[in-house]
Amino acid sequence: MSESSRVLIELRDRALVCVDCGLSETRTKVVFGVGDTSAGLMLVGEAPGKNEDLQGEPFVGAAGKLLDRLLADVGLERSDVYIANVLKCRPPGNRDPRPNEIDACKGYLREQIRLVDPTVVMTLGNFATKLLLNTDVGITRLRGQQHEWWLGITLIPTFHPAAALRGGDRVTNQMREDFAVARSVLDSEAPDEEKVETAETEQMELFG
Ligand code: URA
Repeated sequence: MSESSRVLIELRDRALVCVDCGLSETRTKVVFGVGDTSAGLMLVGEAPGKNEDLQGEPFVGAAGKLLDRLLADVGLERSDVYIANVLKCRPPGNRDPRPNEIDACKGYLREQIRLVDPTVVMTLGNFATKLLLNTDVGITRLRGQQHEWWLGITLIPTFHPAAALRGGDRVTNQMREDFAVARSVLDSEAPDEEKVETAETEQMELFG
């Protein structure tokens, strides 16, 4: 097992007993993240919903099925990527994450990204995009662009699959385009050790 996989397991074990915010009182299971811990593509959603809270795995409901189809369209399976959320515990009634909850939880996501060290991070929806790009600009304006980001990672914002389920073909097709862009970055990028080193210095500025 690689050192980063070992550290990720330690991090997950800490998250499983985390009581850093009030969501620990209402959650059923902590949803830490799943997938290939050395994946080239990492997906970051918002927070677990009802099914995820029961099963302890991200994107297992209807939005997850759409995500699986979008991945399949670019020749990827769920097991080829790493999937995590901004929040590891479900907000009651699926309400929006609160700033104090995001603050309490964001260190887990930062470490997941650092340890998986993907080539591309796709942020799904407003919460993940605003956190990782440290911006108030909404997803509708930010999608369709690639951002050269922390650790030399390319960040590609896209809609949340739940928005595509509500918004129909137009939103789904835009997500399809974004996944195709991610695929082309994955295909074109060779591992680059130097980039990783220079980006380490920017780490302190991350996540607001
Ligand atoms: N929505 C999310 O943002 N994440 C999940 O894991 C499920 C639904």
